[in-house]
Amino acid sequence: MSTARPSGVWATAVGVARVRALESEREKALFRDPLAAAFTAAGGLPKVTGTPPRRWVAVAFSIVIRTRFLDELLAEAMAAGVRQVVLLGAGMDSRAYRLDWPAKTRFFEVDTAEPLNFKESVLRAERAEPRCERITVPVDLREDWPTVLAAAGHDLDAPTVWIAEGLLIYLPADAVDRLLGQIGHLSAPGSRMGLTLGSRGVLERFAEDQETAASMWVSEMPEDPIAWLADMGWTAEAFTVRERAAAYGRPVTVPAAGPEGPGGLVSAIRR
Ligand SMILES: C[S@@+](CC[C@H](N)C(=O)[O-])C[C@H]1O[C@@H](n2cnc3c(N)ncnc32)[C@H](O)[C@@H]1O
Repeated sequence: MSTARPSGVWATAVGVARVRALESEREKALFRDPLAAAFTAAGGLPKVTGTPPRRWVAVAFSIVIRTRFLDELLAEAMAAGVRQVVLLGAGMDSRAYRLDWPAKTRFFEVDTAEPLNFKESVLRAERAEPRCERITVPVDLREDWPTVLAAAGHDLDAPTVWIAEGLLIYLPADAVDRLLGQIGHLSAPGSRMGLTLGSRGVLERFAEDQETAASMWVSEMPEDPIAWLADMGWTAEAFTVRERAAAYGRPVTVPAAGPEGPGGLVSAIRR
């Protein structure tokens, strides 16, 4: 099994782990992710020196808030009886290890082979044990991933909770639409979905960033995400990072969500 160094789009997954590791050290952390520090160390990302630009402090803040948002969305899905989870663009997400899961929960992690191999090597070194049945699904989401997911054991007749966290911004708008269409076809009644979307104007605000993850961002949320998802068979709610931060008692000290207005964080239920 190759364990390549983080590069290209999947290096961003290690960057996200670094943010989660820092949050986990806080006294009043919004979540604790004990594996995040191990992913960060193994990834060997350069240390952040000096004060990062405010717009990047805002990105880190939004990662913290979205992590808590999706932790809660998953807990609600479990309370509603869903027992099948699919992470799309799973990266270094360690929810299979750090959250409580009801018996018989099946947890699929979809990403390309390189980050999944890297992740396995860290998990092995840490002797980490998942708290549910965890199944990794190495496939590129631009390929025929539904067939690969089905072969991995995804049950079409059971509801699924889908998570696309920090993923859609890396896909062009037509690929996002296609992906959501595919998710819809695989979603039994009672399925749920948690999405994060680039806020409106984010591409323009980061247009100067040539050397950072932002140089790979290509899409942002549609003007009306609720109508967009309704057209695809979902009843959705959209939140800003700012309002979720307030709900979690975290003071907002950075321009957290860019221009105000609903969006950024979306939860949806299949009609
Ligand atoms: C910013 S990271 C977020 C990772 C994880 N969801 C999280 O929040 O911790 C984006 C992830 O999407 C994955 N990704 C991007 N494009 C992909 C594609 N076409 N197929 C599969 N995975 C993809 C990357 O490999 C990376 O792990």
